[in-house]
Amino acid sequence: MSQYQRPIAIVGNWKMHKTNREAEKYVKELIPIIHTASSRAYLAVPFTALALVSDLCAGTNIVPGAQNMNEQAEGAFTGEICGKMLKDAGAEFVILGHSERRSLFHETNEIVNNKIKRALDYQLTPIVCIGETAQERDQGFTFKVLTSQLTHTLTGLEPAHISRLMLAYEPVWAIGTHLAAMPAAAEEAHHFCREFLMNAYGLQIAEKTHILYGGSVKPDNALPLLQQKNIDGFLVGTASLNAASFGKIINTKVDKV
Ligand code: PGA
Repeated sequence: MSQYQRPIAIVGNWKMHKTNREAEKYVKELIPIIHTASSRAYLAVPFTALALVSDLCAGTNIVPGAQNMNEQAEGAFTGEICGKMLKDAGAEFVILGHSERRSLFHETNEIVNNKIKRALDYQLTPIVCIGETAQERDQGFTFKVLTSQLTHTLTGLEPAHISRLMLAYEPVWAIGTHLAAMPAAAEEAHHFCREFLMNAYGLQIAEKTHILYGGSVKPDNALPLLQQKNIDGFLVGTASLNAASFGKIINTKVDKV
């Protein structure tokens, strides 16, 4: 076993789903299902549910967090939410640069980079999303795209910063499509990301950093993906909306060698 064991992290991303009443019902259902799980559970909830979910998760093995934040510290940015507010509402992490943010809300690598730095200022763990589109994969550009995203989203960060974030490899073609990457293809991309970290920040940081897989993870494909050496957990969308199915993914038992 590697000297740097990475505990499995399973992150649910509710996206734009659940009222507070629905959130409360869900969390109360999930807590007993996963209370003996060895994996760590994370819930990225809508801003409106964050304070409630944080309160409900206090003293449990569920870590509350958010799905986005503004890159500025505070100011005249109508409708935006900053890191200080997330922290105040109980968030411990924040998803940054999700492909839906990049494609629908025009987030660039530069914006994601600024958000990572701001999140770290507030002791929030950034979960930084990267991944190629179907077209980029078909054209053989997967590793070129990953290199560019990693280089530009992580620019200016010190090794000490990298050790405080997680990466999420989410091939865009696998998100919400029921077409998860085959375990070997996902592992190839994760291995590539780990090599990138090793070359840029050294072995110790590369070995410590979580690299999550995201894209159509379900209870029935979780195990073969988690068995891959460089897959340290998941970012789960659709299957995290139901407490029972998300609980099954969290409870998936895997022996990493
Ligand atoms: P999915 O979403 O599990 O519905 O594919 C994953 C994600 O967007 O993080």
